[in-house]
Amino acid sequence: MPDEIGDILISAAEIASRVRRLGAELAEAYAGRTPVLVAIMKGCVPFLADLVRAWPGPMHLEFVSAESYDGTLAREVRLSVPADLADRIAGRHVLVVDDIYDTGATLDTVCRAVQALGPADLRTLVLLRKRLPPSQTASAPPCRRPDWVGFEIEDRFVVGYGLDYRGLYRNLPYVAAFARTGSLCQERPDCCR
Ligand code: IMP
Ligand code: MG
Repeated sequence: MPDEIGDILISAAEIASRVRRLGAELAEAYAGRTPVLVAIMKGCVPFLADLVRAWPGPMHLEFVSAESYDGTLAREVRLSVPADLADRIAGRHVLVVDDIYDTGATLDTVCRAVQALGPADLRTLVLLRKRLPPSQTASAPPCRRPDWVGFEIEDRFVVGYGLDYRGLYRNLPYVAAFARTGSLCQERPDCCR
C-alpha cells in the first residue's frame, strides 16, 4: 500500500457488520413503503451496493452527483441532478445517502434540491460522520443533520470504501487515515496531527 495510506480506522469486517445492522434497521423504518434512495455519487457507491443488499424490502434507486473537494481542500458544492428526478421523487418517501458528513454542506445542498421537488418525506443516511471540534461546530452553517449514521470518526481526512483523495483509493475495502506525512501535510497541515 502507498505510504500515504495510514492506519486502518474501520476494518472491512466492522463495515460489513454495521451495514448489515443498518439494512435491517432501515427495512423496519420503511416497512410497508417503497422508498426512493437518492445516492450522492461517487463516494457512496461501495456503501450503497452493500446497504441495498442488506435491506430486504422494495426500493427504487436514483442518483445525483456532488463535488466539493479538490484533494483535501473543501470547495463550494457543485451539484448535478438528472432532469427527470422530480418525476421520480415527487410525493415519495426519499432517503438521501452519502458517504461522509463533514461540514454538512453537501447534504444540506442535496436536501434543499430534493425538498424543492416535493417528496412526501425526506430523511438522510451517511456512513461516516466526523466529530468536528466545538469551535467549528459553533461556526458551522445550520445544516441538515443525518438521521442515520454508520460510524462517528475523528476529524481527519480518510480514504477507502468510496472515499477518495484526487479520485484514488475509493476501492479500498476499509476506511483508512490519509497521509500523516508527505504532500498532504503541505497542502493541509491540520490533517497531519
Ligand atoms: P461536507 O460537504 O463538508 O459535509 O463534506 C462531504 C463531502 O466531502 C463528502 O460527500 C465527501 O465527498 C467529501 N469528504 C469530506 N471529508 C472527506 C474525507 O475525509 N475524505 C474524502 N472525502 C471527504
Ligand atoms: Mg461525496
